[in-house]
Amino acid sequence: MRARITATGSYLPEKILTNFDLEKMVDTSDEWIRQRTGIEIRHIAEDEPTSELAAKAALDILKNSSLSASDVELIIVATVTPDQPLPATALFVQERIGAYNAFAFDINAACSGFIYALSIANAYILSGFVKNAIVIGAETLSKITDWTDRSTCVIFGDGAAGVLLEATDGDRGILSMVLHSDGRYTDLMRVPAPGSRIPCSKEAIENRDIYIKMKGNETFKMAIRSIASVSKEALDIAGMDFKDVDWMICHQANKRIIDGVARRVGLDEDKAIITIDRHANTAAASIPLAMDWALKTGKIKEGDIVLLNSFGASLTWSASVVRW
Ligand code: COA
Repeated sequence: MRARITATGSYLPEKILTNFDLEKMVDTSDEWIRQRTGIEIRHIAEDEPTSELAAKAALDILKNSSLSASDVELIIVATVTPDQPLPATALFVQERIGAYNAFAFDINAACSGFIYALSIANAYILSGFVKNAIVIGAETLSKITDWTDRSTCVIFGDGAAGVLLEATDGDRGILSMVLHSDGRYTDLMRVPAPGSRIPCSKEAIENRDIYIKMKGNETFKMAIRSIASVSKEALDIAGMDFKDVDWMICHQANKRIIDGVARRVGLDEDKAIITIDRHANTAAASIPLAMDWALKTGKIKEGDIVLLNSFGASLTWSASVVRW
């Protein structure tokens, strides 16, 4: 038995922020952002919380599937921007879509969140615990972005997307899954407050501790190597090589990282799905957003070998091989 992705769905908030808009906010330029990151625009959630984005993605998934909301057994939302500390964002999604027979919870593995969540749903399905699961990556990173810090505010965006994973007897589905983390690097990317270390206070706000802090260049250097090596691990487990890969869906953090990974492993650049130009970095949402786009535009076809890989705060990295 395997777990197979049988439907995808996505939602992007209406408001678009261009590089030219950012030129008016911080000392940056469209040219610098395009050249250093590949980003042209990003979507920004205004009045919608993360659960609303996630619920709209879930409704799109259900529309593209043969299941109704009452058939769903599990909902996992991967996010670093939950609606509130508790309850879990996944419960707001459950309520909004009316999937009352499911159980629901959130996970946080930053930009690796989608693959981590997919691995949990995969394990539950393989063990027979559930027959299906909706797995969503959803973020409103604009809410934890320091809009006065040019080194971070140009790279993030908001959005949500996900998949329906179902038990299947065929040979299509998830072939391998590899997850890594290293707690020695928690200072590379973090949002220090509010939390149990630094509770909500006037001082935390004044110190701008409530926003993303990132050592971008150090993170960049580790990303290419880590994504390449975890991808090889996942392909080895599946008994495959990079030459077997039809499509690579990498976490969309920086176009130069994706190009660097492709070069390092000898993968044709055309096989890398690119959506960073119009979505920017949406953390846990970036891989399912790219996947949904690649399916809806007819790139990924039945039987294709799809390599998913990610790198995120801090540090998490992961890969999965899927036969579509
Ligand atoms: N506009 C113009 N100049 C900028 C800028 C901006 N938005 N942001 C930084 N700069 C400047 C810096 O001040 C620096 O100037 P200096 O040389 O005069 O000191 C110069 O550009 C280079 O800065 P650096 O931080 O080395 O740039 P970079 O090439 O590493 O690009 C990132 C920055 C953030 C785009 C890149 O490091 C990155 O993508 N990192 C990985 C992010 C990531 O994967 N995160 C984890 C997963 S989400």
